[in-house]
Amino acid sequence: MSITSESELLGMKEISEVLGTALKLMRAYAKVGMTTKELDDYGGEILKKYGAKSAPYLTYGFPGHTCISVNEEAAHGIPSSDKVLRNGDLINIDVSAELNDFWADNGGSFVLGEDIHNHQPLVDASKEILRKAIFQIKGGGKISDIGAVIENEAKKYKLKVIKNLAGHGVGRSLHEAPEDILNYRVKTNKERFKKNTTVAIETFIATKSTIAVELNDGWTLVGNKGGYVTQHEQTILVTDKEPVILTESNGIWD
Ligand code: CO
Ligand code: CO
Repeated sequence: MSITSESELLGMKEISEVLGTALKLMRAYAKVGMTTKELDDYGGEILKKYGAKSAPYLTYGFPGHTCISVNEEAAHGIPSSDKVLRNGDLINIDVSAELNDFWADNGGSFVLGEDIHNHQPLVDASKEILRKAIFQIKGGGKISDIGAVIENEAKKYKLKVIKNLAGHGVGRSLHEAPEDILNYRVKTNKERFKKNTTVAIETFIATKSTIAVELNDGWTLVGNKGGYVTQHEQTILVTDKEPVILTESNGIWD
C-alpha cells in the first residue's frame, strides 16, 4: 500500500510489530516433541491477544493460524496434531495477519535443536541473501534488479531459487500490487519500487529445486526436485534511502 499519512504508517507499524513478536515467540516456543498444531495454537493465542486475525485464514480459509513447514515442505505447511517436531528439523514459520484493516507478513526458517542434518548453512545463506536484497531496495529502483540480486547471491552459495513463489505488496490486503517480487530477474518486468509503499520481501532459497509444487492436501508446497527450501521474509517501508524494516521485532536476522 501507499502510505499517505502518519496514522497509516502507525497502523502498519503496529501490525508488523505484532507479527514480528508472534514469529519470535513461536520460534522460541518450538521444542522437540511438540506438534506443529501446538505451536500454531500458541501463535494463534498471541495474535488474538493483540486483536490481530490470521491473514491466510481470512484470505484463503487456510486451516491454521500460521503456516508451519517442516523439512521437505517448502511453504504453506498445515499445522497438524500428527506432525511432531524432532531434533535437527528444518522449520519454517510464516505469520501474516490483519489488525485495524492493516495487513503485514513475515517468516523465517531455522533449525530446531542440534543441527544434526547440517541445514544451518542453507538457513544462514538465506538470511544473508534477504538482507542483501532488502538493503538495495529504494524508491525508483527496478523490481527485476532485486530479483537478480537474490538469484546471483544464491549462485555464490551454489544454491538455487524457487521461481514460482514471490514477495508482494502488502498493507490493505495480504497480497496486493506489486504482485511478483520474484527471486530472479524477469527482463520484461519494468516495474519499479515506489517510495512510501509497504512490501513484503521474501527469499526462497533451495538446495535442489527451482519450482514449488502443491501436494494433494491442496496447500503444502514442496520442491519439484526434492532437497530443502528456506524462506525468510520481512515487511518493509520503501524510502529513497534505506528501507524501514517494519517486522524487525521478529529477530530473524539475529
Ligand atoms: Co508473503
Ligand atoms: Co509470509
